[in-house]
Amino acid sequence: AEVVIVDSKEAAGEVSADLIEALVRRTPDAVLGLATGSTPLTTWSALAARALDLSAVRGFALDEYVGLPAGHPESYRSVITREVVEPLGLTPSLVQVPAESGPVETAGADYERAIVAAGGVDLQILGIGSTGHIGFNEPGSSFASLTRVKTLTQQTRLDNARFFDSTELVPTHCVTQGLGTIQRAGHLVLIAFGEAKAAALAGAVEGPVTASLPGSAIQLHSTVTVIVDEAAASELK
Ligand code: F6R
Repeated sequence: AEVVIVDSKEAAGEVSADLIEALVRRTPDAVLGLATGSTPLTTWSALAARALDLSAVRGFALDEYVGLPAGHPESYRSVITREVVEPLGLTPSLVQVPAESGPVETAGADYERAIVAAGGVDLQILGIGSTGHIGFNEPGSSFASLTRVKTLTQQTRLDNARFFDSTELVPTHCVTQGLGTIQRAGHLVLIAFGEAKAAALAGAVEGPVTASLPGSAIQLHSTVTVIVDEAAASELK
């Protein structure tokens, strides 16, 4: 991986926005893989500040919670609408989130078909969890996995409790792109900030490739850019 160490979240936003801008200038209807969570917020704000027409861009969210009522403000559909689609001027109908229609049992296969029909993801934005997850592929996820229902670890539910009124209200399950799905994207852009991510980030970039640290799957990909602040980079050799 190419590792870019930056001195602020804003700088990371600019570096990642540069990659997306270059792609969209080449391919106006490029397919972006969209992570939710805190990490990509400066990517979205940097992009929103640029005079760039993103209305033809297509998007696929990495994951979605299972069991939140439609329209719940913390559903990833709501988050993507609020934080990505609206500020960036994406076309809502061109942005998909897993398991939005139909039974959860077939949601994975439906989503895989939709990604293939779109020609695949060109550039995938990734955050990393303190457990080492990418998407919601928690430790033990198969490297060949495709979009499917997964159980969230208790650590991830604790990490995400800040978005809910209490930990008990954090869903227990999600539908997430698999490590195999992520592997098919043309370019992986993994972003991480803060000391709490340092161990997972070092494992992902430099550690053994192991299902115990799903982020290490990025080592199997030919085109990876890792953008980190000093704190998240602190355990790199
Ligand atoms: C979000 C996702 C997760 C997050 C990760 C980091 O769609 O798939 O892997 O990227 O949990 O979350 P933040 O950025 O909130 O620290």
